[in-house]
Amino acid sequence: MTVATSDVEAIVFEVIEELLDTIDTDFEDELSSSALLVADVGFSSIDFVQMIVSIEEKLGAKIGFQDMLMSDGKYVEDLSVGQVVDFTVNRLNNPQLAVATPEAVATPEPAAATGPTITEQDVSVFTTLIKPRQAAGAPPAAGKNPRAVFVLSPPRSGSTLLRVMLAGNPALFAPPELHVLSYASMDERRADLDGERGDQLREGAVRSLMQTRDWSAEQARDLIESYEARGESTGEFYAQLQQGLGQRLLVDKTPTYAFSVDILRQAETFFDNPLYIHLVRHPCGMIRSYEESDLTRMMPLMMKSSAFSSSAVAEMIWLMSNRNIMQFSQQIPAERWCAVSYENIVNDPQGQMGRLCDFMDVDYHEDMIHPYSDNNARMTDGVDNSSKMSGDLKFHLHSQIDPAAATRWRQFCSEAMLGEPTLDLLSTIDTEVARIRV
Ligand code: A3P
Repeated sequence: MTVATSDVEAIVFEVIEELLDTIDTDFEDELSSSALLVADVGFSSIDFVQMIVSIEEKLGAKIGFQDMLMSDGKYVEDLSVGQVVDFTVNRLNNPQLAVATPEAVATPEPAAATGPTITEQDVSVFTTLIKPRQAAGAPPAAGKNPRAVFVLSPPRSGSTLLRVMLAGNPALFAPPELHVLSYASMDERRADLDGERGDQLREGAVRSLMQTRDWSAEQARDLIESYEARGESTGEFYAQLQQGLGQRLLVDKTPTYAFSVDILRQAETFFDNPLYIHLVRHPCGMIRSYEESDLTRMMPLMMKSSAFSSSAVAEMIWLMSNRNIMQFSQQIPAERWCAVSYENIVNDPQGQMGRLCDFMDVDYHEDMIHPYSDNNARMTDGVDNSSKMSGDLKFHLHSQIDPAAATRWRQFCSEAMLGEPTLDLLSTIDTEVARIRV
């Protein structure tokens, strides 16, 4: 049956009008099809994601809005309300269009390099600027917590996609970013994760408790606040969370853990023989993704490093995080360590999930390769609002595992833009850790 434009128009208008009540904008006109979402209505990128998630919720269908927002591999600057309606109608009437075409998956030609490359000296300056945390919590009073799994990667490495794929396995509990291991105590965590961005980063722990106990957000927040008020150790908080899991393995993916080896070591203090998944991605893909995201604006530590361009900051985060992870891996027995690349995951989801299941000693489950099914069980909705899921909001723009996302950077960047230290580590990772030069 063909979907009528007027029905879709009603939904899109309703969603945008609901959003207008929640965002900071001067727009007071009557909404029309010709209104531009950024220039007229005052949308930011996060509002686009919220709009998309709400439209899909109301329609009960994934639309694949990534294609609407992209033109020649770049994000479009603006869109009219009418364009959103037309795209949605077209996709509903032609669902086969949402499936990646062979052209979209083809590897684009590399682009030329620009600007100076980073040096080892830059990395030293950068590392002192961000002053990585030195978490040193005591082991839990009742002894080490049961085994947990940590996904270790720099930000923008496809970690949200991997986390949601793992969450599809009933033997695993893989919530949104917890941001717990970086701190010795829950009050220290509360003090550090402050402001609007901090509030969002604390939501993963709230969402996890809601899921394990079948609690409301209010109940989960109350429990966390009581831990904060008592200055309880973060190890005790993990113990509380794991009590609600039964036999399921907790999977904590929080990219900022890799900012310091001390943070990573805390996992060994808190847990009984924890497992580690090192997720790697090509540095150019990570840098391009970082530049397109709002991370520079949102993360205070990134602002302190304004002496460097955003691509240099991204490159140094890639380098520093992967160096820390690889240094930490030296202390871990081989049977507790597994490396996987984003490039391999998107090109061979089933094979890579099978490998990870063997490593974690859990049965493979078919739902792992369907990350867009069952939002609630996978905790891809936020606590109060879908767009507030902590982690990558771009996850919502895709409607399936998209192999083209792994090579899109080649249209804009090349390895020639990378500094010597990065190229050295890239070669080591690609040959000794996991293939990322696909
Ligand atoms: P790009 O910005 O290059 O597109 P993280 O979760 O670690 O922040 O990683 C974000 C990256 O994962 C983004 O890369 C995002 O597009 C990619 N990603 C999210 N969902 C995806 C999917 N379904 N298929 C392929 N890539 C996905």
